[in-house]
This record gives sequence, structure tokens and C-alpha cells, in this order.
Amino acid sequence: MKVVVSSDHAGYDLKMKVKEHLEKMGHEVIVEGAVSGTEPYSYVEAGQALANDVISGKAERGIAICGTGIGISIVVNKFKGIRCGLCCNEYMARMLRQHNDGQVLAMGARVVGQGVALNMVDAFFDEQFAGERHAVRVNDICKQEEEFFK
Ligand code: RB5
Repeated sequence: MKVVVSSDHAGYDLKMKVKEHLEKMGHEVIVEGAVSGTEPYSYVEAGQALANDVISGKAERGIAICGTGIGISIVVNKFKGIRCGLCCNEYMARMLRQHNDGQVLAMGARVVGQGVALNMVDAFFDEQFAGERHAVRVNDICKQEEEFFK
């Protein structure tokens, strides 16, 4: 699968670990955002680049990382059609796929350790959308977006 990973400076080191992990899983990885962990880089730009890759179809899924995961998840969720969930454990990452059909997993590099982060990545790719009543709800989100983006 084509996956985009993006981060600000605070998420840079974890982003590179996630990239390596995804490549080991056999995914094709596009890297956006900060190019170092020392030079300040806006989570807004990092989120925009990731969201554009998903919207355009350049990537099917995304992993968005900043210090807390809050800023970048807010940015990514402003894009029509994207469902991004800020997760801090494996269960949340699993539910993001199973219940919300999320395409973007957000996390905070200053919140979760590397082990938890990579377990979340595994769960995010392992889990399937459950459909049925959850599909109705996701469809309701899409309808709400149609209203909001008129
Ligand atoms: C950067 O210092 C920090 O504000 C950012 O990584 C993120 O946590 C914002 O939500």
C-alpha cells in the first residue's frame, strides 16, 4: 500500500522509525514534513502536505505525527473526505479502522513511546472496517461534510 508519513520537528525522529517499520511491512512510503528534529517546522504545513497526498490519491493511508498529535490531527481533519484519529494506544488505532474507517492515524511523539507507536501502526494496518451500522455513521459524517463545505 502507498502510505504517507508526515511530521513537524517534534515528530521527526518517530516519523523516521515509522517509515522504516512500514517499509519492513512492505509498504511504499512517501515522506512529507520536517527534514530534521532540530529546525522548527509547522505542524500545519506537515498536515497539509499529508492530507493533499491522501486527497489526490498519491497515498491511500497516512501517519501524522507532531509533539502531541493534536495540532496535526486538527489540520488533517479540516480536509474534506479525510477521517483522521488521534490515538495513544493500540486499541484506539484498531477502532479507528474498525469503526471509523479512518485513513489517517495521528500520534504524539511526546506522548507515546516508540513501542506503543509501532504497535499502533501494526493495528492500523491489520484491522478492517466493520461496515454495517458503522458505515451508516461514516456516511453521516460524509453528509455533514457536504453541508459544511457548500
Ligand atoms: C511543537 O512544539 C508542538 O506545538 C507541536 O508538535 C504539537 O504538539 C502541536 O499540536
